[in-house]
Formats: sequence, structure tokens, C-alpha cells
Amino acid sequence: MNRHEFLRSVHRVYRPRNYLEIGVNDGRSLALSRVPSVAVDPAFRVVTDISCDVHLVRATSDDFFARKDPLLHLRNGRNPFRALARKDPLNVLGADPKLELSFIDGMHLFEFALRDFMNVERHSRWSSVILLDDMLPRDVDEAARDRHTRFWTGDVYKVAQVLRRYRPDLLVVEVDTEPTGVVAVFGADPGSTVLKDRYDEIVEEYVVPDPQQVPDDVLARKKAVRPETLLGADFWPALGRARNLRRPRSAFVPLRRSIEAVTG
Ligand SMILES: C[S@@+](CC[C@H](N)C(=O)[O-])C[C@H]1O[C@@H](n2cnc3c(N)ncnc32)[C@H](O)[C@@H]1O
Repeated sequence: MNRHEFLRSVHRVYRPRNYLEIGVNDGRSLALSRVPSVAVDPAFRVVTDISCDVHLVRATSDDFFARKDPLLHLRNGRNPFRALARKDPLNVLGADPKLELSFIDGMHLFEFALRDFMNVERHSRWSSVILLDDMLPRDVDEAARDRHTRFWTGDVYKVAQVLRRYRPDLLVVEVDTEPTGVVAVFGADPGSTVLKDRYDEIVEEYVVPDPQQVPDDVLARKKAVRPETLLGADFWPALGRARNLRRPRSAFVPLRRSIEAVTG
């Protein structure tokens, strides 16, 4: 299954009510969204039909998140639910919109993708789903910080290592999509400051010159789950319900076990 088929299926099984995309390029992943969306890319050149109500932002993700109210569109935007926004009891579209599904696919350098994750998490809930693309390079050349291949993942695969090491409260799932793998993160904690507090130390350790030492288990996709297995798991309706009903974070514990049961 390729990454776009996987993303389309996540929209279908998780049914997010909003969507954030970092890295739009020609719009093929954004074209899969049918819900109010925000999409960020300093150099997008959309060539495909877009079928959602979207705020298309021509900026880097860092500049976008530095704005005073980056998700304004999801609060006040021209979306099909606007008329309902004021009456929205769960505040999906209201004063403090929270991201439900995010796809991080912007600059393919570790520190950029890590910042993207940190910024997205600040605007998410534990029941949100955060996807990062290009997390399973197939060889060391593809993982180089200095791009010299057609397919390029850069060293963003290190974000999964850092999340597992510094944020064991998150559930990080590698997914065996073509061509270069996706990671799904569950259990976001918008209040966590661990990555922010240790950002300099993390960057100092993980940003190293090429060639990158990509671990064998990443190259061989040893921890990666089949996309069909993750998509076919029975936790998705419960995760969606927890999101819709704003269940407290304590509800993540049993759900985490259900996700781990299928992801190993
Ligand atoms: C791999 S492409 C995105 C592909 C798209 N998500 C898809 O699946 O069809 C990466 C995009 O990230 C954009 N990009 C590069 N640096 C960025 C940054 N700092 N913030 C946001 N986007 C960035 C590039 O302009 C490029 O269009």
C-alpha cells in the first residue's frame, strides 16, 4: 500500500473533522481531505482538484506556527459547519480548535520534522492522530541530509527514535507503506514540554554530518506494521468516540493497549 492509499484510508477509518498538512507540493495528499483543512508549504504548486475547504498557506511551517492564531481558519473559516460553529458543544470548530488528523511531510531534515511534531502536538489532543511521512528510508543515500537521490527521506527517521526515548508516554507506530514508510503517533500531550526543554540537547546529539548511521531495524522495517493490519484494527471507532466525546487522557491507557495489541 502506498502512502496516499494509507492516508486516504486513515481519513476513512478515523473520520477526522479537520486536517492539517505540512508539505503540500502538488496537492496529491491534500486532495484526499474532505474536511476543513489547513495546508502549509512555502512553494506549493497545486495541480489537482482540491475537494475540501482549505486555508492554503504559502509559508514555512515554522513561520506558520509562529503566527498569533495559526488555526484561525478552523475556527472562523469558510467551512460547511460554520453555521454550526457557535452551537458546537464539543468545540470542534470553536474557540480553540484542536487538530484531529495531521500529516507532516515538509522539510526532510530531522530538526525541522521534530519542530513540526512539537508544534502540531501543541494543537492536538491525546485522541488525535499525527502521521509523519518518509520515516523508513531504504538506504543510507536516501537518508542523507544533503539530498542526492530522486526519492529523499533525509534523516527525519530520527524523530521516531527521539519520541521513543524522550516521550515514552506517546505510542509511536512505524507503518510499512511504499515507498518510504510512515509513522503514526497516538497519545499526543499538548501540555508536554519535554521536547521543548531538551530541544537544544537533542539537536546537538542527533544532527550529524552524512553519511547517516541508519539503524538496521529501520532499513529492514523490523518494527513496522503492515498498513492493512493497522487500518483493519478495531480501536478506530473507540478512538473516534473518545475524540468526539473529549474523553479525559486517562482513557488513553486501555486504548493504547488495544493499539499495541495489533502493532506489537
Ligand atoms: C514531499 S513534498 C510533499 C508531498 C505531499 N505531502 C504529497 O504527499 O503529495 C514536500 C514539500 O515540503 C515543502 N517544504 C519544504 N520546506 C518546508 C517547510 N520548512 N515547511 C513546510 N513545507 C516545506 C516543499 O516545498 C515540498 O513541496
